[in-house]
Amino acid sequence: MTQDNLIEQARSVRRNAYAPYSGFHVGACLLAASGRAYAGCNVEAASYPAGCCAERAALTAAVSAGEREFTAIAIASDADGATWPCGVCRQALAEFGDMTVLATGREGTPIEKTTLAQLLPHAFEKEAMKHE
Ligand code: THU
Repeated sequence: MTQDNLIEQARSVRRNAYAPYSGFHVGACLLAASGRAYAGCNVEAASYPAGCCAERAALTAAVSAGEREFTAIAIASDADGATWPCGVCRQALAEFGDMTVLATGREGTPIEKTTLAQLLPHAFEKEAMKHE
């Protein structure tokens, strides 16, 4: 799976975004170590906090399929520039370790690349809960 393919799948699932409140459409595609890819879009709700970001929708699909290791996530929005995962999604993804993060906006905007560890340094991890 190339980075371009992963972005393409994020762009494709973005079309299914249910975002009647923000009007902001996001698609994400998570690549597992197995080689399989899992897509998700943002799903909003009239009770706003009940909504879910595209990144966590993709993560939920992947984990539900039995995946636990990930190498990359691609995010595509309809903004004028790259959309990076929100803080909650960074923390949720970090549960499964570091990965490449690819982000872009609407068609024609550049694809930017970083890592989850760079986006969320000093993430809270399960090891931090160890105590006597
Ligand atoms: N959103 C995502 O799905 N992913 C992001 O990376 C940023 C924000 C969604 C949540 C909400 O449905 C809308 O975009 C506006 O915040």
